[in-house]
Amino acid sequence: MPTFDQHRADWELLGEDDPLWAVLSSPATRGNRWDVDAFFATGVTEIDRTIARLEHFGWVASGDVSTAADFGCGVGRLSRALASHFSSVVGIDVSAQMVARAEELNPDVVGVTFVTNPRPDLSAWADQTFELVHTSIVLQHLPDADTIAGYVAEFCRVLQPGGALVFDVPTRVGWFNRLWLRRRAYRVLRRLGVSHRMLHERLQLSPMTMMAVSSPVVENVLTDGGCLVLGVDVAEVSGMEKSVFYAAKPS
Ligand SMILES: C[S@@+](CC[C@H](N)C(=O)[O-])C[C@H]1O[C@@H](n2cnc3c(N)ncnc32)[C@H](O)[C@@H]1O
Repeated sequence: MPTFDQHRADWELLGEDDPLWAVLSSPATRGNRWDVDAFFATGVTEIDRTIARLEHFGWVASGDVSTAADFGCGVGRLSRALASHFSSVVGIDVSAQMVARAEELNPDVVGVTFVTNPRPDLSAWADQTFELVHTSIVLQHLPDADTIAGYVAEFCRVLQPGGALVFDVPTRVGWFNRLWLRRRAYRVLRRLGVSHRMLHERLQLSPMTMMAVSSPVVENVLTDGGCLVLGVDVAEVSGMEKSVFYAAKPS
């Protein structure tokens, strides 16, 4: 398992080289081949669906001056979409490279700021700061299950009473994904001196991890953090069970 510092360094490289692919990976978009407008349009669709799911589960935004956190914001794909629903949005990312790209790509989006947080916690933010804490396709890439649980506890802490928390996480990963073959090959070749760019573009190898944490563990962390589970969407994706948790902190 990578250390937290190694994990952070991996995301600096991924953010420097091919950030849009690192956010939404598909062979057709590797090598900076994402159309930027099409890329950002995926964020609007995703956030509209998330807000609709929250409303379906009975949660409605206060409509007052409200702040949302987009944890693991990458280049701001979802932060900018959240700005249509909240007065202010803080995009938080471990990678300074990703944050730099987010700032470059979103200069005109009102109400959004991007912050680098190189820590395994959210101690930079006070208790009860946000009305919504949102994260998508981030927790799966953390170094281990304890780090995932630690951040979920932090999401509860920084959530306001009456606020909502939405995150996705693999709750079961098949044996093939657990072998992390691409990551292991990437690590060995990096140690032998092969550059990240060569590994990424020519050999299509990546340092990304795929971690899971079981549903009962997630639910315990939410309960301990004073949050109630409103609903869970479960899907099978590429040999793993992926769950989206919708939770709220009672007023
Ligand atoms: C696959 S991308 C998803 C980006 C964004 N959530 C989206 O869907 O457009 C994962 C992002 O999580 C960030 N990340 C990884 N570990 C993190 C951590 N410990 N804290 C904050 N961000 C992290 C990475 O730097 C990267 O920008």
